[in-house]
Amino acid sequence: MATTQVNISDEAMKASQHLARRPDPSIVVIFGASGDLTKRKLLPALYHLQQSGYLPEDFAVLGVARRPLEGTFAADMKDGILSGGGVEEADPKLAPFMERVQYYAMNFDDDAAYDGLKAKLAEMDAKFNTQGNRLFYLAVAPEYFSDIISFLGKHEMNKSPAGDGHFVRTIIEKPFGHDLSSACALNDEVNKVFDESQIFRIDHYLGKETVQNILVFRFANGIFEPVWNRNYIDHVEITAAESIGIEGRGPFYEQAGALRDVVQNHVMELLSFVAMEPPISFGADAVRAEKVKVWKAILPIHPADTVRGQYGPGNVDGKPVIGYRQEDRVHPRSQTETYAGLRLEIENWRWAGVPFYIRAGKRLAKRVTEITIQFKQPPLTLFKDGDGAGTEGIKPNVISMRIQPDEGIALRFAAKVPGPNMSMSSVNMNFSYADAFGASSANGYERLLLDAMLGDGTLFAHRDGVEATWKLITPILEAWAKEPVKDFPNYAAGTWGPAVSDAMLKADGRKWRKL
Ligand code: BG6
Repeated sequence: MATTQVNISDEAMKASQHLARRPDPSIVVIFGASGDLTKRKLLPALYHLQQSGYLPEDFAVLGVARRPLEGTFAADMKDGILSGGGVEEADPKLAPFMERVQYYAMNFDDDAAYDGLKAKLAEMDAKFNTQGNRLFYLAVAPEYFSDIISFLGKHEMNKSPAGDGHFVRTIIEKPFGHDLSSACALNDEVNKVFDESQIFRIDHYLGKETVQNILVFRFANGIFEPVWNRNYIDHVEITAAESIGIEGRGPFYEQAGALRDVVQNHVMELLSFVAMEPPISFGADAVRAEKVKVWKAILPIHPADTVRGQYGPGNVDGKPVIGYRQEDRVHPRSQTETYAGLRLEIENWRWAGVPFYIRAGKRLAKRVTEITIQFKQPPLTLFKDGDGAGTEGIKPNVISMRIQPDEGIALRFAAKVPGPNMSMSSVNMNFSYADAFGASSANGYERLLLDAMLGDGTLFAHRDGVEATWKLITPILEAWAKEPVKDFPNYAAGTWGPAVSDAMLKADGRKWRKL
């Protein structure tokens, strides 16, 4: 696909889009604001929204955490915004934005402190004209979710002090539960305090342009959807590979592992977008209904169709790195998987018989998230005989969706090699986001924060979806817990994962696509 430069400088169109998507005045209250996420992702995202005119004029941010950071919080957040790139210190909108960033220190389990928080929010409403609208963002460790939610309920902060027509919503970070029963219990607790329409369970993958584009690619083009089924597709691969390790998060990762950390949420979201039927609209209910149908149609995943890996020492980008068991605060005989591979089937009319292969891992050869749709091999008899013909170069058609980095989509097809013989080779048509639209600084959180402020839950996980994905994953976790792996670590850092993963595809006569 030759790509063309797209002209997006139509100011009138942009202005009307902004107006249509501008939320009401509000305060974004971030619990766990002293953490990395707030500085690296949330504040830069909010500022980019402000810079591009998406935020209301009457807007404020309140960081909430235990440490007394009143004197330094705003300056620290400013550093985060500046170091994220794309923002100059002299940017005229920066200073006024920072004046609206405040801090409140409290313990999340301190009942009385919520009265203080309530008073602080009322004071900010008066100062910044934020009209009693609040978006509570729970960027805390999961053990605090229940306390915060129930105290917000107890102190009647689940309703706006300004009454009807004003909003209170909550964004809850992952992990949402650590298995099916804990996810159901958390859903029950949250639903006691907040109505489902007020709850936004965030999965930052849904904020990525390339993920949203899966739906546009499939449903806004006439040529792909007719072949997007078991009559034409041989198999689907989803790879979520990271070259980074666990980045100092030993205690968290020991409890999580690759299956919980990435597969139950990010990868399952990708899978639902690839496999779902066209929703009747982009409304939250319509999209959610189709996603849930996909997860519910997945056949129980047999432990024999799963593989696990754990990285040992190796080389990443030419530098030696330690193995998982040598990482800080990781058990020296840890059984936690840093790599998970699955084979699953979706038992419906579109997909029955088409295997979906999934792999996700840390310390792999490179960072790449990609979806491969491999089509069936066409009959090639025509090219087999005489005339110096050769079919060796012919591989089946592939559509590869590059979620990150090097965002784009490619289509592989066969072409005749110039010359007197009928010999062929595979070539690619390539669409690159950067070439077509220019580089984007958006980090996924922008879109999701804006949607939550607008009350649009389309790109968020819902109760039934979270439970459906845990229902698929929990039996695997249980089977794995019963059977410790004897040969961990079973892949060297900087490689493509354990040999058992290649063997899983080999048993089906297939190979992971080289990325
Ligand atoms: C997070 C996981 O949800 O996603 C991390 O907890 C992982 O372990 C990250 O590194 C990957 O996100 P991205 O956007 O870098 O692919």
